Amino acid sequence: MTTICLIPGDGVGQEVIPAAASVLGLIRPDLRFVQADAGWDCFQRCGTALPDAAVAAVADAAATMFGATQSPSTVVTGYRSPILALRKQFDLYANLRPTATLLPGRPAVDLLIVRENTEGLYSGRERREGDTAIAERVITRAASERIARVAFEQARSRSTLHAPRSPRVTIVHKANVLKLTDGLFRECCLAVAADYPDVVVNEMLVDAAAMWLVKDPARFDVIVTTNLFGDILSDLAAGLVGGLGVAPSANVGAGKVAVFEPVHGSAPDIAGRGLANPIGAILSAGLLLEHLGDGESAGRVAAAVAETVAAGIVTADLGGDANTRQVTDAICQRLR
Ligand code: NAI
Ligand code: MG
Repeated sequence: MTTICLIPGDGVGQEVIPAAASVLGLIRPDLRFVQADAGWDCFQRCGTALPDAAVAAVADAAATMFGATQSPSTVVTGYRSPILALRKQFDLYANLRPTATLLPGRPAVDLLIVRENTEGLYSGRERREGDTAIAERVITRAASERIARVAFEQARSRSTLHAPRSPRVTIVHKANVLKLTDGLFRECCLAVAADYPDVVVNEMLVDAAAMWLVKDPARFDVIVTTNLFGDILSDLAAGLVGGLGVAPSANVGAGKVAVFEPVHGSAPDIAGRGLANPIGAILSAGLLLEHLGDGESAGRVAAAVAETVAAGIVTADLGGDANTRQVTDAICQRLR
């Protein structure tokens, strides 16, 4: 039996993870679900944001669905964002964030951001020296090369899925200013590119990439970039196709642990009111199915989501008046 760990977390995570689980359970009745606790609410109750039991459940499961957790913007002793902790603990070094057009009237987008997930400005090396605060941006050859390899492999597999398009990778950096850190990242990506002569490679500075993503997103296929740039550009890309409510992601590494999560956070402004769009979480469940080798079910989930959106059954963030449950039910109906 295949076990899936569910970590709803805080806020709308409590609404969208059950939605994703109901889709998974419907399409794959053989899956077994275990639930684990993590997040800010968990921290208040148990004094830890990521209990050992949750880490063990993630380690044991074939894959994990993670909702979102709420993180304070100030230092709180003992608190660490559970998703950052899981990425580190299981060395989930690649964050895959696909964006594709869902809604009519939106620009044609079909791209994948491959975000380095373990270092860069998120390496946790931040300190305060009086009125000066310093964050260290760590870039290593090992991490840069392995994320580049993921990007080139993804470009190859996408080109077979989206044939006859030739695979393209855009290396996004800011090496003109960050000459040492992004200089190394760029150098590593270009070195890996030499092993993929079939993939068209180009590079772009991150500020220009932000502009081109808005102006002409069709010029992108796979983007490979460092941690913070990937975080920001993927939210921007999500905005092109309807917003954070529809954006899925996968955290994967070399081991068997893999964590799938909507890109959005706990959305305290709408939590608990049935307003949350479940599509980001449900498409993340699709990525989970793909990861389990079940591309057929993943394709069915994506099609059911597309049909539901086309039928106008969408939440307020996409201009509709359906609630979380109604969108989920409409997607499930199309999978029966
Ligand atoms: P957010 O993603 O929670 O919300 C940004 C905006 O998008 C809000 O207006 C929200 O209503 C909307 N939104 C988000 N998810 C939606 C959905 N499913 N359906 C419809 N609308 C949706 O980001 P924000 O407000 O910057 O952060 C809130 C909290 O979430 C913070 O504590 C932050 O630390 C945390 N966060 C956690 C993440 C994680 O656990 N992976 C990722 C990002 C933020
Ligand atoms: Mg983000």
